[in-house]
Order: sequence, then C-alpha cells, then structure tokens
Amino acid sequence: MNSVPQPSPTVGKMDWFIHDRFGMFIHWGLYAAAARHEWVKHAEEMSDYEYEKYFCHFDPDLFAPEQWARMAREAGMKYVVITAKHHEGFCLWDTAQTEYKATNTPFGKDLLRPILEAFRAEGLHVGFYYSIIDWHHPEFTIDTKHPMRNHSDAALWNGIRDMELYRAYMRAQVYELLTDYGNIDIIWFDFSYADEALNGLKGKGHEDWGSDQLLDLVRELCPDIIVNNRLDLPQEQADIHTPEQFQPCAWVTINGKPVHWETCQTFSGSWGYHREESSWKSPEQLVRMLVNSVSCGGNLLMNVGPTARGIFDLRAVTALRAYGTWMDLHNRAIYGCTQSSFEAPTDCRYTQNGNRLYLHLFAWPFKHVHLPGLTGKVAYAQLLNDASEVLLLDYDKDSHGGGVHPDTLTLELPVQQPDVLVPVVELFLK
Ligand code: GLC
Repeated sequence: MNSVPQPSPTVGKMDWFIHDRFGMFIHWGLYAAAARHEWVKHAEEMSDYEYEKYFCHFDPDLFAPEQWARMAREAGMKYVVITAKHHEGFCLWDTAQTEYKATNTPFGKDLLRPILEAFRAEGLHVGFYYSIIDWHHPEFTIDTKHPMRNHSDAALWNGIRDMELYRAYMRAQVYELLTDYGNIDIIWFDFSYADEALNGLKGKGHEDWGSDQLLDLVRELCPDIIVNNRLDLPQEQADIHTPEQFQPCAWVTINGKPVHWETCQTFSGSWGYHREESSWKSPEQLVRMLVNSVSCGGNLLMNVGPTARGIFDLRAVTALRAYGTWMDLHNRAIYGCTQSSFEAPTDCRYTQNGNRLYLHLFAWPFKHVHLPGLTGKVAYAQLLNDASEVLLLDYDKDSHGGGVHPDTLTLELPVQQPDVLVPVVELFLK
C-alpha cells in the first residue's frame, strides 16, 4: 500500500474543487470566426487591421448559454472556466477599460453575464480564464509571441509603448470581473514565458505582468478564490497547478511536494473552435482521461470551443454526451474520489472514496482480474453500471495456473465487457 499524497494548505478554498473533479473549459472569442485555432492571429502574423474583420462580423445569433450549461451538467461537469479575454485581447464582457468588447460588435451585448447566470442556474461553480497576454492592447509591447514579432517596426513601437499602462489595465479589468459578476470561484491566468528571447525580443514574466500586485488584488477581493499557477510567481503562491495537453501518470509534485492539480485538455488539438481539425479523441479516451486524472489525485478541465454562431458543434455535443452516458452510471467513482493507497493492476486505475474502492478497467480481461494486496480486505464487489455481483475467488494458485501472489484477490468477471466506455467494479472494503 502507498500513502496518499497530502498537498499543503492553500489560500483558495479547495474543498468543492477536490470533490467535484470535473469541469468544463470554454474558449470563445473572435477566433471562433476564423475557425482555425485561437492562436490564428499569431500564426498568420495578422495586424489589428487584418484581424478587425472578425470583430466587425462577430454576431453569435444562436447564443444560448442555458444550453451550454445544461450540456455541461448532463456531462457530469461541476464547474466552468470561461475565457473572459484570450490572447487576442477581445473582451466578452462590457468592460469600461476598452472598446474592444462584445458590446461593440454586431452582437451588441455582454456575453459573460448570461453565461455565468446560466451555469450557476445549473448548480455549477464558475471561474474566469483571463489572458495576461494581449495582442491588441496598444501598450502591450511586441514580444516573442506577438503577431507583429517579425515586423520591421517592432522595436520602434516598443519604444513608445508603456507596459505600466497595460499592467494598470489588467488590474482594472480583474477588478471589474471580480466585483461586477457575483461570486467567482476560480481565476485562471494564462500565461508566462519569461525565459524566451528571439530576434532581440523578450518573453514576459512576473515583472511585466505586475504579478505580485495582480495576485494581491485578487486575494483582497476574493479571499476564497482558487488561483492557478501561470503568473510566473513562486509555485507556493498558486492554489492549483495546471498541466495541459498531456496526462500525468502520478500525483503532480512541485519541488518534490504534492500539489492540488488540474489537467486541462481539449476534445481535439485546438482550444478555440476549429472547423477542419480531425484529431478528435475517442469517447473511450475522453473517459479514460477523466479516470486517470482522478486516479492520480487531480481534476480534469475539458475544453469546448463554441462556434461563432454561439453553439457547441455536433462533435462537441457528441463528446459531451459520451461523458454524460458514462457519468450517469459511474459518477460516484469520480466525485469525492482521489488516488487510492492500493496499486492498481496493469491496464486498470483505482479511484477511492473512503471504504469504496473503484477498479476502472481500461482493457477487459478474460474472466479474471487479479488485485495485488487485497486478499481479505474486500467484503463485496459489484459492477457499478448495473450493481451486478462480482464474485471474489478464494486464492487458489492451482486453479489459476499459478503466477498469482498469495496476497492477491481474484475477481471473476463476465466474459463480455459491459456495454460502457470504461467498466468499473465497485469494491466494498472491510
Ligand atoms: C495554452 C494556449 C492557450 C490556451 C491555454 C489553455 O496556453 O496557448 O491558447 O488558452 O493553453 O490552458
């Protein structure tokens, strides 16, 4: 048996977050109209003038956040993190700090408020993603990631730009977001690249962002809020750590110490709506990512990129339904669960909640699965999908052709896999 890691106490209130485990990330902005990745302005080195067409035509006429929220809840998601502003600098809310906002597009209204209201109405916790990068703000200096990084006038423009004005802009916007929109449970800043250098341009880190002042403001306004780890501050100042686009295979540690963590992932490779991308994960992969995250003591924040009409496209709806179908039968193997002190067998994951141990089978074995270290520790077992008994076999090396260690508990399984994406055996520990 292994001890279950215990992260140090955090400033942000983590109880609901650790229990809920599963959230929806939403990346939505003008890039949805380009429909070819949220970094399109960077990738295609577009000027503000060239990018303006998306602002002038942004009119999500089918926008129905109550549908988004219902689909999130039905998928088993318990919280949402929505992009208030992404790197493009476009603001989804009626900010007083800039005219580059949803209320000035053909759509003409604040988008954040109805989104928050809809998700709260479905009982979800709510959070903002706020990009500290801003490729539209006139005082944001051209750097290694800016769309104008290769422009011959980049150095000239930087000579007349004042990042102190941009730092003040960010603080004013964060103040708006944390005081005008009710209780916010998470603020998710993105992201720092302090060590970069390219063609005489630099990256940006905590001094550029004024991260200390920004974090002080957040903590002052919302003492219980959860803050992520992308302000280029000492890791101990973050409440959660945020590996993305890969699956940790163990509890995430920073400087050798276990931390609260949440992996953020996409259905396909893009965070923003991408019309033609084909790398959509299978329903099995999606469920396994959720299970794997919880089995290592973490959360999964799974992203949806709504279209410029304001809806989830069919691929996203189908993926969410796959989650919902599985979670309807198996959510108690996720909510309130964490890493188990037992070592799971090959092609399996354990999640555990007190004396309930959940065996998630990523590959369906023929008739038996052998659980090391569990002899004499299990009172009863059942398939979670239909509560049908799973027999516990007394250890008998001969009947299983040997090769099974005496402290191993053997379960007898039906030959056919249950018709679920990831079958789960619920073990009632003594
Ligand atoms: C990366 C991407 C950014 C996305 C973020 C989500 O930072 O560059 O577009 O919003 O991941 O974690």
